[in-house]
Amino acid sequence: PWSSLKMAPIDVTFGLSEACKKDSRSPKVNLAIGVYSNDDGSSFVFPVVHEVEKYIAGKGLDKEYAGILGLESFRRASLEFALGSESKAVIGGLCATAQTVAGTSALRVIATFLAKHYPYEKTLYISEYTWPNHAPIFKEAGFSVKSFRYYNWKTGGLDSEGLYQDLKSIPKHSVVLFQACGHNPTGVDPVVEEWNEISKICKDCGHFVVIDNVYQGFASGSHEKDATSIRRLVDDGNNVAICQTFSKNFGLYGERVGTATIVCSSVDEKRIVESHLKLVIRPMYSNPPINGARIATEILTNPQYRNQWLKEFNVVFEDIQSKRVAFHDALVKTGSKRDWSHILRQKGWFCFTSLSEEQVAMLEKDYAIYMSKAGRVPVVALRTSEIGYLANAIHSVMK
Ligand code: LMR
Repeated sequence: PWSSLKMAPIDVTFGLSEACKKDSRSPKVNLAIGVYSNDDGSSFVFPVVHEVEKYIAGKGLDKEYAGILGLESFRRASLEFALGSESKAVIGGLCATAQTVAGTSALRVIATFLAKHYPYEKTLYISEYTWPNHAPIFKEAGFSVKSFRYYNWKTGGLDSEGLYQDLKSIPKHSVVLFQACGHNPTGVDPVVEEWNEISKICKDCGHFVVIDNVYQGFASGSHEKDATSIRRLVDDGNNVAICQTFSKNFGLYGERVGTATIVCSSVDEKRIVESHLKLVIRPMYSNPPINGARIATEILTNPQYRNQWLKEFNVVFEDIQSKRVAFHDALVKTGSKRDWSHILRQKGWFCFTSLSEEQVAMLEKDYAIYMSKAGRVPVVALRTSEIGYLANAIHSVMK
């Protein structure tokens, strides 16, 4: 039955990384995936995660099903992490939350729920550069996808006027997707005043806002501060879904730990929405995995582990900041006449180089440097020893 099937294109992130691994040239630089690594390229695990794993193993826990919506304690802790324990939506029991198979399946669960039940147009609006999986996830669920302006090529910052205009001119009740902080791939986030305006426009236009919350803490160094966008949108009474993952802030990539939340207007509505989330999840993956959620719950709720994690998180955050500065300084040192200051202003795990697709292709062909077509550099994956080589290569293809 497969004789007419043609080879599918490689995944733009994981496939690219595989291609780099197969490349026998030296030096080579793998910047395909956003994963924080040790400076020798080996994988980094938060020491607190290993400690919690031992602690959990010592308890001799069961391996029962988590239930379709997942572990209750984890769902609550995840909500409080994003919205704050003082949040009216949390205290009032307005959040329909399901534990998911990390952020990707949180998005897929929300997309499928909206495709089945959202009473308005099934079109998702995303920033014109975004994580390359956003569009496929929503398309697979039956949405069409369009974009709004976001990145300003001249300043390497936010095109706030373009963004506001687009949000106002798309149909009322549109589904729009924002990243809570540390925008992937540009590293450009709205500031507080801009979030206030975005929230107001979305409320006035009745848009449904899907918030992808992946890098909470990594934009500013503070988990509370990085939740400003989410809390603004929720507190202003927008219709909101929140997709969360603990892949990055706890380094639990392969454990697949996340939640999908729909903030409802009453407790009754929440019960109904939750019942339909179950109908979405049961034929998709039935029940979420328990191990990573147990680790995350312990870190989120046990003060000793939470404090330890905060300390370790700060070290990682500072390290990423210093890599960003080193990358910027190396670009300046090449003698390049370009203004690279946007690299310092951009936030989180990524920066946007402004390389064209052709220049990215030249980096791969001539220098064995692999990065996304959009010209995204995951500062988290930079090794000190590679920064000079990368900067010089970028300078020569941009000359
Ligand atoms: C990335 O953007 O590199 C990571 O979020 C990994 C992924 O799933 O694409």
